[in-house]
Amino acid sequence: SAKPLVDRFARAITYLRLSVTDRCDLRCAYCMPERMTFLPKAEVLSLEELHRMALGFIDRGIRKIRLTGGEPLVRRDMIELVRALGRKLGDGLDELTMTTNGTQLAGFAHELAEAGVRRINVSLDTLDREKFARLSRRDSLPAVMEGLAAARDAGLAVKINTVALKDLNEDEIPDIVAWAHGQDFDATLIEVMPLGEVEEDRIDHFLPLVAVKERLDRLWTLTASEHRTGGPARYFDVAETGGRLGLITPLTGNFCEGCNRLRVTATGQLFACLGGDERVDLRAAMRSANPEAELHAALDTAMRIKPERHNFAIDRRGQAPALARHMSMTGG
Ligand code: GTP
Ligand code: 5AD
Ligand code: SF4
Repeated sequence: SAKPLVDRFARAITYLRLSVTDRCDLRCAYCMPERMTFLPKAEVLSLEELHRMALGFIDRGIRKIRLTGGEPLVRRDMIELVRALGRKLGDGLDELTMTTNGTQLAGFAHELAEAGVRRINVSLDTLDREKFARLSRRDSLPAVMEGLAAARDAGLAVKINTVALKDLNEDEIPDIVAWAHGQDFDATLIEVMPLGEVEEDRIDHFLPLVAVKERLDRLWTLTASEHRTGGPARYFDVAETGGRLGLITPLTGNFCEGCNRLRVTATGQLFACLGGDERVDLRAAMRSANPEAELHAALDTAMRIKPERHNFAIDRRGQAPALARHMSMTGG
């Protein structure tokens, strides 16, 4: 196979986050505004193009692909892409996985498992139906719970992703973690990041995970775990629940030293870092006269422009977010 992807800081890139749509059926208030402007459908790559592009990445040493959105399961026929990529498992690909909000999971969990998906990450910020409807502006908690039950039934391992939000779900965090562990799910807490305009100032809900960890330390016995998934979370074993808790601390604990990731938007823009604007247009490469060579050249460029680290800081009140694009564009 071709030259592996290594950046200027000697980081081997083996993990691709591929956004298949920027659309979503929820409107989590920290993520997007109620009246969100989505990408014109005409600009989005076809599933066939996404598939061929992914194969090009696998040729260059990508071993883990995470399908993201927006919400990946709202894209029609996306299970076809999962099936196609599933055929690369054991033949270049070690892991094919997905980050989803779970609303459509009941209908897809078994098909995902059949296609070779072993593990999924499900975003869930509260276990209270009314609070869920306030935070995500949609009354979808029952659907998510059905989705999680289907995932369990299909034998999928689950990690729950919870964005820690001051005054919104802060008090509920121990309950969410204990509940997840009780279901045999991993749990991960995430610090909110300044990506894209939303109605509220994110600083009003920013919760440094150092503070959350201190509270959890008083409640439980947390010990650093050896568990690694190749993502940004640092894991702890919780003695009392018997589960694993991951912390993702872009604001208070930079993890970029070990970055192994690239992300591609649904329109084929490769972003070298979640926290920067460095990008390469893979759609142009894929639609050129010599797609294979152009894609390789674009990936070489990506290795030259990938920054050392992000420098997220939470925005001051009334200030525009550090980055104009929303998380739903790059899929995190
Ligand atoms: P695992 O494979 O389970 O380790 O998943 P993951 O943590 O890589 O993926 P997931 O989609 O669950 O991401 C959880 C959170 O981590 C999301 O909010 C992402 O935006 C964030 N995240 C993932 N990669 C990066 C990164 O390189 N930089 C920053 N700042 N955040 C990231
Ligand atoms: N900051 C942090 N996390 C975010 N997510 C969406 N927007 C943001 C943001 N601005 C989370 C979702 C999901 C993951 C992919 O990213 O809740 O868990
Ligand atoms: Fe949709 Fe995820 Fe954004 Fe919520 S956080 S609106 S589920 S993309």
